[in-house]
Order: sequence, then structure tokens, then C-alpha cells
Amino acid sequence: MAEESIPPQAKKLLPVPLEAQTSIIQERQTLTNLKGAGFKGFIPATFGTTASLPFRSMSDLYLRQTASVVRNSRNTPDQYERSILKKFTSPSYPHGKPLAETIDGGKKVRLMLPFCYQEHCLSCHGALKGARNKTGHPKEGGKLGEIDGAISVRLYVQ
Ligand code: HEC
Repeated sequence: MAEESIPPQAKKLLPVPLEAQTSIIQERQTLTNLKGAGFKGFIPATFGTTASLPFRSMSDLYLRQTASVVRNSRNTPDQYERSILKKFTSPSYPHGKPLAETIDGGKKVRLMLPFCYQEHCLSCHGALKGARNKTGHPKEGGKLGEIDGAISVRLYVQ
């Protein structure tokens, strides 16, 4: 996107998640560079949540991840998110398609981007359901390609 077409507010906010992600990676660099250590406790969802927090506190933008069954209660879906997560898994909904809509009489926009399990997610979220994974959480019994959760965004229309 040409720089002049980015709205001033977005220009101010765009570096925030990028800087947060860079500093999280830098803080853990020594650990992640360790060879042969196996699992290093670097969890994708925790990375996402930690990176989104400064962004949320600097703006009135709501950005988080959620799922219908959550490991961390902080990710519990609100009523709107719960209904969209249900829609994402309905056979009549196009698999993996993001959904954006204006709600509350045009005052808010809500956007949800579904997550599908990929091969590398299954060591923590796959079979056997209920067995403890390397993070100590019980596995969900997820299958390749299955919709598990979503990134959820809410913004106010001026
Ligand atoms: C190393 C193990 C591991 C891997 C690999 C992993 N996750 Fe997770 N996932 C976790 C843990 C632990 C949490 C809970 C994090 C927290 O406390 O916020 C979590 C949380 C989540 C959440 C938020 C909802 C909740 O349960 O609290 C979603 C959605 C999710 N994972 C999807 C995925 C997807 C999709 C992939 C692959 C692209 C993936 N995960 C890969 C361990 C993992």
C-alpha cells in the first residue's frame, strides 16, 4: 500500500504491534537459539496475546484470539464471537473464510479470521483428546484443517 494512502491514525498504530513482536522475540532469542533443547515454551497463542496487549491499550481497537473451547479463560468468546465461531464450523459456511460486518446500527465493525489446525498445531491440540501435551494442557483432539478458533477484531466507526 502506498504510504500516503494510510490514514494518520493507522500510521501511528501500525508500528506498535511490530515493535511488540520484535521485542518479544529479542527477549527470548537466547532461548529460541538453543540447539537440541526440544520444546522451548514459546507458545504461538501466548506470543499473539502478548503482542496485542500494547496495541489494545494504545487504541480503542479490540484485538484478541478466541475459541469455542478455551484453555485460557482470558480467551473466552463473548456472545457475538460465540455465534460467529459456530457459523465458521457450519457445513454451509465457506471453510476458512473471514467474516466482517457492521453491527449496532453502523457504530461498530467486527471482523473475525478463523484459525484452521495445521500439522504443527496438532502436537499440542491434536489427538489423543484429553492426553496432556508438552505444555501440560489436555489436548483437544483436533484434526488437520478443522476450524479451532479465530482472531477477533472490533473497531468503532467514527
Ligand atoms: C507448543 C504447543 C502449542 C502449539 C504448537 C499451538 N498451540 Fe495453540 N495454545 C497452546 C496453549 C498452551 C494455549 C493457551 C495459551 C494461553 O495461556 O493463552 C493455546 C491457545 C490457543 C488458542 C486460544 C484459545 C485458548 O485455548 O485459550 C487458539 C485459538 C489456538 N491455541 C490455536 C492454535 C493453532 C491454530 C495452532 C497452530 C497454528 C496452535 N494453536 C499451535 C499451545 C499450543
